[in-house]
Amino acid sequence: MMDIDMPLDIAFIRRQFPFLRASPPPVYLDSAAMAQVPDAVLNAMTQWEHSSRANVHRGMHARAEESTIAYEAARSTVQQFLNAKHSDEIVFTKSCTEAINLVARSWGETHLQENDAIVLSMLEHHSNIVPWMQLKDRKGIDVLWMDIDENGMPRMEDLEKHLKTGRVKIVSVTALSNVLGVTPDLQKIIALAHEAGALVLLDAAQAIAHMPLDVQKLDCDFLAFSGHKLYGPTGIGVLYGKRKLLETMPPFLGGGMMIREVHTEGFTPADLPAKFEAGTPPIAEAVGLGTAMEWLVAGCRLQVANSSHASSNQQRRTGILWDDIQPHEQSLLQHATCSLQQISGLHILGPTPDSQLLTHGCVSFTLDSVHPHDLTEILGRRSIALRAGHHCCMPLHKRLGIPASTRLSVGVYTTKEEIDACVQAIVEARKKLNT
Ligand code: ALA
Repeated sequence: MMDIDMPLDIAFIRRQFPFLRASPPPVYLDSAAMAQVPDAVLNAMTQWEHSSRANVHRGMHARAEESTIAYEAARSTVQQFLNAKHSDEIVFTKSCTEAINLVARSWGETHLQENDAIVLSMLEHHSNIVPWMQLKDRKGIDVLWMDIDENGMPRMEDLEKHLKTGRVKIVSVTALSNVLGVTPDLQKIIALAHEAGALVLLDAAQAIAHMPLDVQKLDCDFLAFSGHKLYGPTGIGVLYGKRKLLETMPPFLGGGMMIREVHTEGFTPADLPAKFEAGTPPIAEAVGLGTAMEWLVAGCRLQVANSSHASSNQQRRTGILWDDIQPHEQSLLQHATCSLQQISGLHILGPTPDSQLLTHGCVSFTLDSVHPHDLTEILGRRSIALRAGHHCCMPLHKRLGIPASTRLSVGVYTTKEEIDACVQAIVEARKKLNT
């Protein structure tokens, strides 16, 4: 029987990450770029390599069947994690970027005409900008922007104005900014877009590791994310799409597995989701991603390795997962923000202190007279990992009037002591750079 009052045990969590077992452990504050991977994920992938390595949906031998079962079980886990209605609404890709490109190419090429428009927000990552720019060049569509307010939140009045043109066919927005840590009002964006007959794609690359995303409750049309920010492996991403939409979309890539029949005259595509999974898929990576989700819902909170699928699903349904992780991450971010604010000349990007807006996952800042790259290089030499630069958000940085920023990001394994060490190192680095 699980003890539902058991608090999140950070020391226990940290012991599960090989990366954090080094002595002394590195101070890793770059989980927004890539989260670390727990033993459970590595073991599941190794287990598949040892016992089940074979191609999926092709062979009749035992290993091929085991491998197919493991691959499809991972799909079911993703379906449950997102609360998608059907498992064939889950398409495995190599990354969040590929998932967004799939929509821009497949849906965009066939559903958009010249003078149609799409809406993006100023918060977007390049992976949710460039595929649409490429589509603009090919199809003559317009890309319209939602500016941000003083708290970094996309302006709803911009969205309403764009939707009123009657030309908007899709609104593609981040579910969590990888720079400012703010979450746009997703329910409102989706409601407004749908009212105007437009679809909504959520770029959940960051949000997936920090908040529950129930695609049926949100009623988003597409949602994309990667495994490597969710304590899973690299080389695996997911596109969720409503079945009725995916069914109207042509295949993105051609090859094996995505066909029903091939003739000398042409081909007919396979049913969902195979239609979008050309070639040998990332099988070990899918198994790893499924395990990362299982680990997050069961392993991270409970000191029981043998929790059954049934019980972890029950955990997920009751929302215990996020009730544990979110307060921990919130308290880390509040601690980071308060500590960083004590450093003179340091400017935090994002919501103003009196906005009462919650941020998730990261805090970014600039420091007078210090270039972010110099700062992070000095901290890196002390085994403190931050990210510096434009974080693949050049339009946002331009809008903020800065070329670059420094970002501190957290995961479930992050501690306040690590944040203190980082803040102390920033103070010392600044002294060194300014003398
Ligand atoms: N998109 C990742 C980041 O924000 C790589 O760092």
